[in-house]
Amino acid sequence: MKKVITFGTFDVFHIGHLFLLKRAKQLGSQLIVGISSDTLNLKKKNKHPIYCQDERLAIIRSLKCVDEVFIEESLEMKRNYLINNKADILVMGDDWTGKFDEFNDICRVIYLERTPSISTTSIIEVIKMKKISFL
Ligand code: CTP
Repeated sequence: MKKVITFGTFDVFHIGHLFLLKRAKQLGSQLIVGISSDTLNLKKKNKHPIYCQDERLAIIRSLKCVDEVFIEESLEMKRNYLINNKADILVMGDDWTGKFDEFNDICRVIYLERTPSISTTSIIEVIKMKKISFL
């Protein structure tokens, strides 16, 4: 039984998020997802998420491919999260390539190719543009 873990904000849930989570689950038997807290997201991306952490957590928890969720409070606690969850594999999108190689001593680190042409940021931009064109 292999435990896979991944981390992310998963704000304004989209198909790139779903593909990443489904492929992550296929690498093992259990998928655990650490959802960035609102405070961590502000620190990491310098913006407030559209959906608060409890809503993002509820959405991810409801997916068939996800077995467990928790709130990730701090990037510095990543090693603890991996150890406490007994993770065999850490999965991240390839926008993070190389950034988590330090954890290769306690688990396998795999970077999956991002789904092209979609991101939370681009969706928000499209919505903003549409709003402007209706004025
Ligand atoms: N992801 C992906 N393909 C995409 C977008 C995201 O595989 N098109 C992956 C990321 O690589 C990450 C996880 O989904 O492992 C969560 O990404 P997140 O940062 O929450 O999503 P983004 O859409 O990249 O958000 P933003 O635009 O705010 O950076």
